[in-house]
Amino acid sequence: MNDIPGFEIGPNKLSSRIIDIKIKDETIEKLIFPFKKFDLTAIEYKPFTRFTIAKSLDDLTKNKLSILLNKIIRNRNLGCFIIGPENQNLNINDIFLVKLSTAISYLIGNPNHDSMAGKYYARFSVKHEDKSDSYLRKAYINMDLHTDGTYVKEITDWLLMTKIEEKNVEGGETTMLHLDDWEYCDELYNDPVGKENFVWSSPKSKNIEYKVEHPVFSEDENGKAQISYIDQFPEPKNMSQGNFLQKLSDCLEESKNKVISRLPVGSAIVANNYFWLHGRRPFKENKDLSRELLRIRGSFFKN
Ligand SMILES: [Fe+2]
Repeated sequence: MNDIPGFEIGPNKLSSRIIDIKIKDETIEKLIFPFKKFDLTAIEYKPFTRFTIAKSLDDLTKNKLSILLNKIIRNRNLGCFIIGPENQNLNINDIFLVKLSTAISYLIGNPNHDSMAGKYYARFSVKHEDKSDSYLRKAYINMDLHTDGTYVKEITDWLLMTKIEEKNVEGGETTMLHLDDWEYCDELYNDPVGKENFVWSSPKSKNIEYKVEHPVFSEDENGKAQISYIDQFPEPKNMSQGNFLQKLSDCLEESKNKVISRLPVGSAIVANNYFWLHGRRPFKENKDLSRELLRIRGSFFKN
C-alpha cells in the first residue's frame, strides 16, 4: 500500500500514528502543467476545477494516492499524515501550495465554507502584533489542544493545515494528541458531564451568527471515544459543566504524550478531527516574526 512511485512514504519519526508522504521533485514537475490550467479565481469560483486538479494529482499515481490518504485518515490507529514536497524549488510558491492543498483535500472530501474567509479555504498570518479576538493569531500565547468545527453546523470530519511561508520563527511548533495516547481519556470520557449538551458560540471574527449545542464526547461505531472541543467557545451552563471543562483543559495540556513537531514550509498536516487534537506552542518574541498558514476543513465523501 505504501509504495507509490514518485513519493517517499513512511512513519513519522515522532509518532508512528502519523504517516509522512514526501512528494519527489519529478512528481512536482508533473503537476506544474495541470495546475497552471486554472488560475486561483477559477479554482475559487468553479468548484469542479478543484476536482480536476485533484484528479490530475491522483492520475499520476494510478489512483493509489487517494486510496492511501483515505485509508490513513479513516484508520483509528493512524488518522493523520504530513504531505509536502521533498525539496523546495522555485516552482513551489504560494499559489502552487493553494492548489496542492486543494488537490489533496478533494481526494478526501468536500471542504466546508470557511466563514472567516468567505470561501472554501482560509489563508491567515501570525505576526508580532495582533488585535484579533481569538487565539488563532496570538503569537506569544499557547494555543491549547482542540478540534475544529466545534461551533458550526457543518460536519467537520477532517482538517488540513498548510504552512505557506515562515520567517524569523522560533517556537510555534504544532502540537498534536491522539485520544488513544491520552492518559486521562477513560477518566474524562466516563464522566457523564462530558456527554451532556454544551452551548458553543464564537467571537465576531468567525462570522457565525448562531450558537450550536453538542456534547464534548461521543462514541464511534466501535465504542471508542470521539471528541469535539475547544477551550474558548463553550458556554458552561452551570458549575458542573464549568468544572468539567477546566479539568478537561488541564488534563489535555498536562499530557506527556503530545507530539510536538515543526511542520516544514510547503507541507500540510491532515488529521481526522474526531480523535486527533491540535494546538500550537507560543512563538519566541520577534518583531519580524511572520508565518502564513492555509486551512481547509471538511467532510468525507459519502460513497
Ligand atoms: Fe484549529
